[in-house]
Amino acid sequence: MSSLPKISVIGAGNVGSSAAYRALELNLADVVLLDIVDGLPQGKALDMTQMMSVTGSSSRIIGTTDYSDTKDSDIVIVTSGLARKPGMSRDDLINTNTKIIKDVTEKVVQHSPNSIIIVVTNPLDAMTYVSYKVSGFPKERVIGMAGVLDAARFKAFLSLELNVAVSKIDTLVLGGHGDDMVPLKNYTSVSGVPIAQMIQDSRLDEIIQRTRDGGAEIVKLLKTGSAFYAPGVSAIEMAESILKNQNKILPCCTLAQGQYGISEQFLGLPVILSSEGVKKVIEIKLTPEEQKELVVSASHVKELCNFIDESGLI
Ligand code: NAI
Ligand code: 2OP
Repeated sequence: MSSLPKISVIGAGNVGSSAAYRALELNLADVVLLDIVDGLPQGKALDMTQMMSVTGSSSRIIGTTDYSDTKDSDIVIVTSGLARKPGMSRDDLINTNTKIIKDVTEKVVQHSPNSIIIVVTNPLDAMTYVSYKVSGFPKERVIGMAGVLDAARFKAFLSLELNVAVSKIDTLVLGGHGDDMVPLKNYTSVSGVPIAQMIQDSRLDEIIQRTRDGGAEIVKLLKTGSAFYAPGVSAIEMAESILKNQNKILPCCTLAQGQYGISEQFLGLPVILSSEGVKKVIEIKLTPEEQKELVVSASHVKELCNFIDESGLI
């Protein structure tokens, strides 16, 4: 390993390997790729090591099934678990993935007690809650990835619609990572121009619906799994802001403690991501309709967390 920070990625499937690839591409960190399937992380790590002979990246990667290799990671990205199959909701995954996240989190705490955990596994907000509860880490150090992805989808669809550079589009998508996520029209702009001046409201609503269905659209096309390129890079966008102390404001799943009138509930909110993890939850002005949608979305997440609490799974 080099002198770079250390990211461990748990789960060497589609999202995990995409995240690892992106971290190496950016020379952001040395990467440990871990899975329970022996051979899978080692094979992918070897392939990526050979890739770096071409790309010239100086990061290192190893694949393993042994948590001792993850020791003292700065960041642990958790992608282990089942992905959605066609017709399956994110919530259907809850029982199996709760057990996996509990087991993984216990091992992460044991080997990297000072790490920051970024959870990707679905159902995202509930799995972030599980990792937070099981880890005993402060809320600043257990963060879920969804809002960056959902915002990326919204921006991509707007860019295609308007035929403008996606890099100049700004937006925020809050709430739980589900059908009731809350894309914010009033915080959507192109080079500072409010989106309402660029597109008719009825068409914008259609694009918002496509954003809400963004994950399912890809599941339907792929038939055997769910999205992974955009999710992988989204997790690394968060890791980069943390490792480089960039203080980016990103929509992330975090523990609300009174913000937006929501208490002790994980859901997607705008946060400043710094070297300490979630440095601050930003409170922005929402319309009454958006506020209502956010509360509904939070209550859906709460149902899942209550189910987990009552089931004795953790
Ligand atoms: P995948 O099936 O390609 O990979 C999952 C990997 O986890 C497999 O290689 C499996 O062997 C491994 N695994 C299972 N149990 C494990 C354990 N106990 N320890 C270590 N590894 C274990 O799935 P994919 O596409 O990578 O998705 C991973 C998860 O991320 C799914 O739950 C999916 O729904 C979720 N996801 C979340 C997104 C978000 O926005 N938050 C976006 C995309 C996917
Ligand atoms: C997605 O949004 C399945 O949550 C995953 O693509």
